[in-house]
Amino acid sequence: MSTEIPFLDLVTPHVQLEEELLAVVRSALRTGRFIGGPEVEGLEKEFAAYCQAAHCVAVNSGTDALRFALIAAGIGKGDIVVTVPNTFIATTEAITQTGATIAFVDIDERTYNMDPAKLEQYLAAHAGEPVKAVLPVHLYGQTADMDAIADIAARYGLLVFEDACQAHGAEYFSRKENAWKRAGSMGVAGAFSFYPGKNLGACGEGGAVTTNDPAIAQKVRMLRDHGQSKKYYHEVEGYNGRLDSIQCGMLRVKLRHLDEWTAGRREAAARYRELLGDAPGITIPYEPDWSKAVYHLYIVRIADRDEVQKKLNDEKIWTGLHYPVPLHLQNAYRYMGHREGDFPVTEKVAKEILSLPMFPQLTGAQQQVVAAALK
Ligand SMILES: Cc1ncc(COP(=O)(O)O)c(C=O)c1O
Repeated sequence: MSTEIPFLDLVTPHVQLEEELLAVVRSALRTGRFIGGPEVEGLEKEFAAYCQAAHCVAVNSGTDALRFALIAAGIGKGDIVVTVPNTFIATTEAITQTGATIAFVDIDERTYNMDPAKLEQYLAAHAGEPVKAVLPVHLYGQTADMDAIADIAARYGLLVFEDACQAHGAEYFSRKENAWKRAGSMGVAGAFSFYPGKNLGACGEGGAVTTNDPAIAQKVRMLRDHGQSKKYYHEVEGYNGRLDSIQCGMLRVKLRHLDEWTAGRREAAARYRELLGDAPGITIPYEPDWSKAVYHLYIVRIADRDEVQKKLNDEKIWTGLHYPVPLHLQNAYRYMGHREGDFPVTEKVAKEILSLPMFPQLTGAQQQVVAAALK
């Protein structure tokens, strides 16, 4: 008889916080305040402070956050935005939906994030083309190497954005500034997702843009609200991209627990490291000394991944694949003309990665079951 080990637990934290979360709903029902108001402003203030950014604008999803950030900074038709093929499709949907064009560069084999050397190579080989921005993804909860990316971007005159949708509270040690910096505070703007399974998740959809630039914040505020500067005065065409008051209020309740949940994830990662670090054939995550990852996902690599995943499934140990098909090989991007072999590190990694159960309440006993089965 094996015990079932969930991939993530979306019930326990909500049961623990049920009264506080219901109080938010009750307050909205009794005041009729569903859109805008103090819960939205409160979340924006508190999440900006959490990310060490000057401004935060709450929006309807991480995808909206990415799209609005890019548009607000002037990205659009005719521009090229460079990102990685090892990410969720929202990263590239946002680029295309501004009217801009996607360009891919490969990832680093140890961190699974953008390889700055590949970025440099791409830019050198495409001199004279309208490359306007670079959009690294802080995948799995670990930041990309932002100093290196910022240096290259500065030399080529590019804007740097952060896809921080999986990296709430992740930290990066900037050698340039000799300081730890939080995800969402290092580029022109950062985009966060509050999808329920994220480290800070809403009870529905949600997202946020963080920025140190008041003009970008102002433009994102307009874009999320039909381009209005005030009611029924539209400066531009925008979107219906607001985050409602109930979600903002619930996120405020949860934000107060995020540090404790991140500590839980980091402890679970440390236990996995102990259990699996020396196991032959298993590669555990690499956390450089410049990174404090928040382990949105815990990724191991195994040569015979599909078979291992199947066996774990048989034992009711639930795992995930993030992501099984690199973006450049997706049908949606067939028009780009990429083929197998174009981004060999991403392709190799995609065949070997396995996302193990990871959530703040994961216990050492559960991890022992996972590790024993894996070995
Ligand atoms: C890396 C990455 N970018 C963007 C998104 C999009 O966020 P959302 O689902 O809130 O639109 C997600 C989340 O699913 C993500 O993981």
